Amino acid sequence: MERVDYDARQHAVYAAGRAMPDDMRQTWAEVFAAWAPPERPLTVLDLGSGTGRFTPTLAGTFGGPVYGVEPSERMREQAAPHPGVEYRAGRAEAIPLPDRSCDLVLMFLMFHHVVDRPAAVAEIRRVLRPGGRVLLHSTFADRMPDLLWHRFIPGARTVEQRMFPTLTEVVRLFGAAGMPVVAIERVREKFAPSLSSYAARMRLRPISTFEHLTEDEIVRGLTALDRAAAAETTPRPVTAEVDLLVLGTDQSDSASTRADATGEPAGTSKPPNATR
Ligand SMILES: C[S@@+](CC[C@H](N)C(=O)[O-])C[C@H]1O[C@@H](n2cnc3c(N)ncnc32)[C@H](O)[C@@H]1O
Repeated sequence: MERVDYDARQHAVYAAGRAMPDDMRQTWAEVFAAWAPPERPLTVLDLGSGTGRFTPTLAGTFGGPVYGVEPSERMREQAAPHPGVEYRAGRAEAIPLPDRSCDLVLMFLMFHHVVDRPAAVAEIRRVLRPGGRVLLHSTFADRMPDLLWHRFIPGARTVEQRMFPTLTEVVRLFGAAGMPVVAIERVREKFAPSLSSYAARMRLRPISTFEHLTEDEIVRGLTALDRAAAAETTPRPVTAEVDLLVLGTDQSDSASTRADATGEPAGTSKPPNATR
């Protein structure tokens, strides 16, 4: 599938179209903290940091320093400055950080864009300290979430099934590089507080999947979504259950690991330091 360059169109719509409700950002921060190494402060790499949706929050949660590494200049230049954050040009296949310099790597909706995934995984292993953790949020082709917009544009689901790696593939890649599964957590993500605000955002086409759809199927789907939004009488949040894959470097984490002998995660496990 053709690579999406965020410098082309997505940079102009991403921040507005993918704005995250504050309570959701806080929920994600709590999930990240529950699976992170327990010490503070932590050095964190936000890999594929985009417009910095999470980068300053990571500095607030973990103390930092936090490095936001992002290849798209136009995405990077929109990221909010923060005293604990340094944004750097770079990509997963060549991370501009020294060996064993990070305690935590966040990969939020970016791994499917990485062209040379084995090279990226080797780089992540290189920059992680022993005992470090990787938090990877992605759609997985073998565990497709039930997303509302897929019901209005069914072709989007088909595209995403081809676009995203399977969980099996990701687990194998990281496992082979010495980063076994610690857990896979299901998180209920709130995308928007109401159908009308969701529809308004979708009109911006702020998801790279749109770049692979025809104009006709987009217009038909968004028109139907607008009609549904206009008929909404009581605003209800638009949510879906999504996956966070937690990977570790330390074999002594095996007590909380739910992987079977093939490296497949057996299901959701609770974080060892969970406070939620
Ligand atoms: C869907 S955005 C996610 C941005 C951010 N993580 C967030 O959640 O808002 C995907 C980002 O991954 C970046 N990206 C694409 N290929 C990459 C690579 N090889 N290494 C690092 N980042 C990459 C894109 O430029 C884009 O900013």
